Amino acid sequence: MARKKASSVKKKPTTKKVAAPAAETAASVEEKAISAVTEPAPAEEKKEPAAKETVTAEKKASPAAEKAAPAEEKKEPAVKETVTAEKKTDPAPEKAAPAEEKKKTTAKKTASKAEPAESKKRTSAKKASSVEEKAVSAAAKAAPAEGKKRTSAKKAASVEEKSAPAVAEAAPAVEEVSAVSVMSNLPRRSVAFIGSECHPFVKTGGLGDVMYALPRELVRLNCDVRVILPRYACIPQKYQDQMVYRGEFYMDLGKTGRNYYVGIMEYVCDGVVYDFIDNQEFFSSGNPYLNLVDDIPKYCFFSKAALAALNYLNWIPDIVHCHDWQAALVPVYLRTLFQDSPIGHARSILTIHNLRFQGIYNIPTIQYWSGLPDSVFGMGALKENYVDANMLKGGLAYADRITTVSGTYAYEIQTAEYGEHLENHLRYHSGKLRGIVNGIDYGMWNPETDPALAVHYNRDTVFEHKMENKLALQKELGLEEDAGKFVIGLISRLTNQKGLDLVSSIIPQVLDGNTQVVVLGTGDQQYEDTFRYYEGANRGTFSACIQYDEARAHRIYAGADALLVPSRFEPCGLTQLNAMHYGTLPIVRETGGLKDTVQPYNVFTGDGNGFTFDRYDAGLLLDAINRAKTLYFTNRDQWNQVVRRDMEKDVSWENSAKQYKDLYLELTQW
Ligand code: ADP
Ligand code: GLC
Repeated sequence: MARKKASSVKKKPTTKKVAAPAAETAASVEEKAISAVTEPAPAEEKKEPAAKETVTAEKKASPAAEKAAPAEEKKEPAVKETVTAEKKTDPAPEKAAPAEEKKKTTAKKTASKAEPAESKKRTSAKKASSVEEKAVSAAAKAAPAEGKKRTSAKKAASVEEKSAPAVAEAAPAVEEVSAVSVMSNLPRRSVAFIGSECHPFVKTGGLGDVMYALPRELVRLNCDVRVILPRYACIPQKYQDQMVYRGEFYMDLGKTGRNYYVGIMEYVCDGVVYDFIDNQEFFSSGNPYLNLVDDIPKYCFFSKAALAALNYLNWIPDIVHCHDWQAALVPVYLRTLFQDSPIGHARSILTIHNLRFQGIYNIPTIQYWSGLPDSVFGMGALKENYVDANMLKGGLAYADRITTVSGTYAYEIQTAEYGEHLENHLRYHSGKLRGIVNGIDYGMWNPETDPALAVHYNRDTVFEHKMENKLALQKELGLEEDAGKFVIGLISRLTNQKGLDLVSSIIPQVLDGNTQVVVLGTGDQQYEDTFRYYEGANRGTFSACIQYDEARAHRIYAGADALLVPSRFEPCGLTQLNAMHYGTLPIVRETGGLKDTVQPYNVFTGDGNGFTFDRYDAGLLLDAINRAKTLYFTNRDQWNQVVRRDMEKDVSWENSAKQYKDLYLELTQW
């Protein structure tokens, strides 16, 4: 139920009058009600003076705010002036260099019929003021209370309608296989997912899986879902070729003084609409994540462009659901620069998939690229310390709800041990925080149909056919082909999070002649080197696949007996879920989602799903592995019962997607 509003009252640009940080100082009525039941706010969060300071700063900064006034008010030279002035102080000036916006070949292919030539477009784009520019002016009075928002939003101008009204509706997107059974008796809601990766287009870890699977499940729960993603050049050509051009506009960005091209390319699959934000300057690298110098501007641009694109498409969702730091500015933009534009109607949810990554950089740089008002750079929102701003911290303050990917992680991140220095901030916002555990997509992960496997199996045929997958895996990896060996898999980003120092310190004890170890992953050099060393020293029993290979991952889940996930911290973890679904027993550390999804095997009752250990300690990990081996070698019947139980366990998205839907309903009661 996308709310389409087409109001056309244009607001005059006004100098900003302090948009107080909505989250802490002028929280919405609803948020206040929530925080009333939470723990007392930490002193830093309450500080009134901080807000006042911000007010003063904002006032002082008013000339700058004027500079940021809508383009239609500015003449060309004024823009140039801003650029020059910025260049002197710009902490990351290399990005400010004008770059020619070349459209990709495929875009040309699909767009050529519907669209004017690039040069023509540019001319018209110059004339038309960009979406957010208008939003900027309209947003000056950012009012957090819901009622106010709705009223003022009605008045807000919908810029895109003026600049390119027909385009957004014109092109039909490609619809792939669409056999989704929608439960149309449920209340309908519309939601825009905004995040930095999504299978099958681009995936570096579990975020990509969630961005793929959860929207599909939400479609079944009668949600209208659009997933907004960067159009990275590394997206396979197969998908690039199928994208359909939906339009383009130009958008200002921060204090760069430039207008940036924003193209919208669309692809539809199984009822989910994927809208890719196109801009070669930001998204042309081979890997989505490079380094913060590049990534901060990239994701400021992306977050702003995503909201501007929704306005442009005139598709105003009930909920904007953002993921991790890369999209964390979205809730902040929503309540500031976009407050009075149509998208300002939407409520926001920010999901933390991994608190370790927060998008921290010095304040001037983030101010420069985001163009957010000074008022959001207080301690209650983006400000991290005297020097730095923290994009995730700002998003957490401004989001209407915060979720993370398991109940235990929701608790852990409020402690000093796991809080990554945001524990006080999260405790302050705990009233709007909840944990919803991830699931896996049963279409993508199904040993009965998985095209990557040597032999298919289900819970009835697992015992004979899993052996065949094990032998095929051993052959593929050059391991000794022996179905009697205990094969341990590890599929992981090779980073400090994943407990790899524990693993590497016990490998000699694990390789006892009856055990083989298979590692699949890429990441930190030290771990890659260590695992390569072990492979060299243990040919035939240790395999180090230092690569990212989706199909091989599937074969390891199917061919291994056990899967290792000894993480230092783990917000949810999906590999243990995949493993259980493939009848491979997990050996995990009791933290985050691992604790919530794997019940320890109880040698007396026979209950449980896997083997666990609590403290982060190599000896305890070795002990857990040895308990698994003991059961495997001495009581195969019991082992097999656990295999069956794990394959029967519901690790689908069904329950969790319902919880997200409930959350959407809770935020949009009408
Ligand atoms: P994280 O998101 O922290 O990396 P998760 O367990 O949530 O961890 O998700 C990891 C996802 O990435 C799983 O789908 C896993 O199969 C996949 N994966 C990780 N490393 C590789 C790899 N080297 N090759 C293929 N798939 C991988
Ligand atoms: C993160 C976490 C992982 C989680 C995934 C998807 O990358 O490290 O635990 O499963 O996101 O939510």
